[in-house]
Amino acid sequence: METVVSGIRSTGKLHLGNYYGAIKNFLKMQDEYNCFFFIADYHSLTTHPTPENLHGSVKQVLVEYLAAGIDPERSTIYVQSDLPQIPELYLFLNMNAYMGELERSTSFKDKVRANPDNVNAGLLTYPVLMAADILIHKATKVPVGKDQEQHLEMARTFGNRFNRLYNNEYFPEPYAFNFTEKLVKIPGLDGKGKMGKSEGEGNAVYLSDSPEVIRKKVMRAVTDSGPTEPNMAKPDEIQNLFDLLKVVSNDETYKYFDESYNNCQIRYGDLKKQLAEDMTIATEPVRNRIEEIAANTSYLKEVSAYGAEKARASAAKTINEVREIIGFKKF
Ligand code: TYM
Repeated sequence: METVVSGIRSTGKLHLGNYYGAIKNFLKMQDEYNCFFFIADYHSLTTHPTPENLHGSVKQVLVEYLAAGIDPERSTIYVQSDLPQIPELYLFLNMNAYMGELERSTSFKDKVRANPDNVNAGLLTYPVLMAADILIHKATKVPVGKDQEQHLEMARTFGNRFNRLYNNEYFPEPYAFNFTEKLVKIPGLDGKGKMGKSEGEGNAVYLSDSPEVIRKKVMRAVTDSGPTEPNMAKPDEIQNLFDLLKVVSNDETYKYFDESYNNCQIRYGDLKKQLAEDMTIATEPVRNRIEEIAANTSYLKEVSAYGAEKARASAAKTINEVREIIGFKKF
C-alpha cells in the first residue's frame, strides 16, 4: 500500500484554502492509503515563534482535522514535534542541500519580501524540513495545494541526492497530489492572490466562521462595476469569485451566474449572497463539530498520543536504516 504524508502548519484557524487544497483529499485518501497527517509545529516557528502562538494553534489544527472527519483509527494523526526522528533526518538532508537552491525557492523569496527583518535560517531550510517530514515515512503521495508544488520538487531532489550519494534506491520519489488531477489554488476575497492566513483580515473564510461572519466577509469582497460587453474576460477579482463558486456551489448555479455575466445581466449582490450561502452549507458539518471536540481535552490527548506512537514506530525504522546507510556504525 502506498504511503501518504501531509501536514498543516499550526499558525491559526483553518480556512477554505486548507480545506479544498489539502483536507478534502486527506478524507478521500484514508481508505486507500497508509496515511500520515500531522501538525507542522516546527515549521510554524519560522514565522510564529512564541509559546502563545504554539499552544492554541496546535490544538486548533488537531480539533479541525478531527471535526473535518480525519479518523484516528484509519489515519495516523500526530504532532511533528513528537517525532525526534524528523529533526535528525533534517540534519542529514541539510548536509546535501545547497544555499543557492534554497535561496531560489519562491516561497523563501516571498517570505523575505514580506518580512525582511526576520530572514532566519529556519526559513531558508524550510523545504529541507518538509522533505524530512515526507521522507521519514518514505511517502510517495503528498496531498497539498498548488503553492507547495515547488517544495515537493525539492523533496524529490533531496531524496534522489541521498540515493545517489550512498549509491542505493532508498527513498522513493514523493509527488504532490490532488484527486481532481490538478493542484488547486483557492483565491481569497481581496481580489488579489490566494486565500491565506497572513493575507489580511477578511481575505480568508475560516471553517469555524459563523454564517453571519461568512456573509459579511463575502458581501465585502472586491468587485468591479460589471461587464460592459457580452462574453468579455473576467478581471481577476471577478474570476476569483467564480473560482470560489466552482468549488462550493453546484454546476447549475455556476452556469447560471456565468451565463448572466456573459450576457451582462449579472448582479454581483445575488452572486455574493449565493456564494455565502453555499460556503455556509459546505462548512456546516465541520463547524458544528468544532466546539464539542475542542471541549474534550482527554480525547485530544489520547488521539495525539496514539498517533505519535504509531508515527514514531514508522520514523524509527527509517532513521535506523538511514544511520546505517550513512555509516554510523561505531564498531
Ligand atoms: P500551510 O499550513 O501553509 O497549508 C496547509 C495546506 O493548505 C494548502 N493551502 C491551499 N491550497 C489551496 N489554496 C490555498 N489558498 C491554500 N492555502 C493553503 C497548502 O498547499 C497545504 O497543503 N509547507 C506546508 C506544511 C508542511 C507539509 C509538510 C505539507 C510541512 N511539512 C510535508 C506536506 C508535507 C504548509 O505551508 O502548509
